Amino acid sequence: MNTYEIIEKKKNGLKLTPEEIKYIVDGYTNGSIPDYQVSALLMAICLKGMDVDETFNLTKSMIESGDTIDLTKIEGKKVDKHSTGGVGDTTTLVLGPLVASCGIPFAKMSGRGLGHTGGTLDKLESIPGLSIDLGIEEFIDNTNKIKLAICGQTTDVTPADKKIYALRDTTATVNNVSLISSSIMSKKIAVGADCLVLDVKVGSGAFMKTVEDAVELSEMMVSLGEKAGKNTQAVITNMNQPLGRAVGNSLEVIEAINTLKGQGPEDLYELSMELAEKLLLVSGHSQTEEEARKVLEEKISSGKAYEKFKEFVALQGGDVSYVENVDKFDLSPMFELFSEVDGYVQGIDALGIGEASKNLGAGRETKESELDLGAGILLNKKIGDKVSKGELIATLYTKKDNVEEIKEQILKAFKFSDNKVEKDQLILKVIKHEQ
Ligand code: URA
Ligand code: CA
Repeated sequence: MNTYEIIEKKKNGLKLTPEEIKYIVDGYTNGSIPDYQVSALLMAICLKGMDVDETFNLTKSMIESGDTIDLTKIEGKKVDKHSTGGVGDTTTLVLGPLVASCGIPFAKMSGRGLGHTGGTLDKLESIPGLSIDLGIEEFIDNTNKIKLAICGQTTDVTPADKKIYALRDTTATVNNVSLISSSIMSKKIAVGADCLVLDVKVGSGAFMKTVEDAVELSEMMVSLGEKAGKNTQAVITNMNQPLGRAVGNSLEVIEAINTLKGQGPEDLYELSMELAEKLLLVSGHSQTEEEARKVLEEKISSGKAYEKFKEFVALQGGDVSYVENVDKFDLSPMFELFSEVDGYVQGIDALGIGEASKNLGAGRETKESELDLGAGILLNKKIGDKVSKGELIATLYTKKDNVEEIKEQILKAFKFSDNKVEKDQLILKVIKHEQ
């Protein structure tokens, strides 16, 4: 096989064979094919595209480039959720206990936050004592015991994706449906769940800027999941403002706890319910959306989902008294931001808020940055809310001294209108393939 000819073939818009794709992925991972050739191929893929078969073969080759996680020792149909990345998105912490309390195993390998999006592992570490360093045996045992475990990745999953993603990042080839979906799905399939629900975000804080693009990406990812034998659905959701009111690690844990008790913000509750409902469907636990919804509502109202979260925190070594009394969380010093105008909130740029929260210390600039787990932003107003001049719109928590600068940044993220504003629709579309 010849790399030059493979690049030439894709440049002319021809379909690559499984062998050709594997040759490139293996060669790039082991260093025998150089960056410049793979860059050229990636650009040809961006310009000419790949079909579902090629994308699936790319996904498969990336999975085969590294370790895979065998979760067959977990009893029952294991579910997993993936979000394409939002701001203030705490759904995993609500969803996990919620579906686990229904008896469905939720065994999740999560990541840390980078840039403007937060990571579940960082959030969890704001509960003193809680460890996310589980060995694979413990991860499996915990899931069998209480149906819920969340940990970091210990093994080298999809090294090809890591290398290709870094190259894409510097060659303007991130933005292609086949490349994004194979990157995401290779990682998800390699970690072993049986069914998957994807939360594909659309809006200013997201990869996908239009619903059309999100539909195309979702269709491809659902196809890849199904081809890999995993029941998969995607939900396209609005990221035109941060999810919930809290952005920041401890703040989001508190918000998740409140939501599990049925006292959280409406949008976080609604999205968690929607995704949980889909997990009940893909795992075969429920037959209809109505049935799933009823089961889930009971888990919240009876306190069972909240109890499951406590059980999870205890099993992973966390101090449960923090869950029982959220005033114990050590938040950073507080500053208040007031509106300079009268009107209605029309938009809250999620990217802007994410960046501001990072600047307050809640996120990482680089992988090495230290986090302030007590830093972040509480949004006192959201889209559709009426505001008066001088009214509180956001509360900042930080140890940084450039608070005035960050206040400006947050103020810039808010858009106001003189006229009444309708609330945005949160769930935009559901993508699934007929069985
Ligand atoms: N997230 C990923 O993991 N990969 C992409 O290509 C884009 C988003
Ligand atoms: Ca939130």
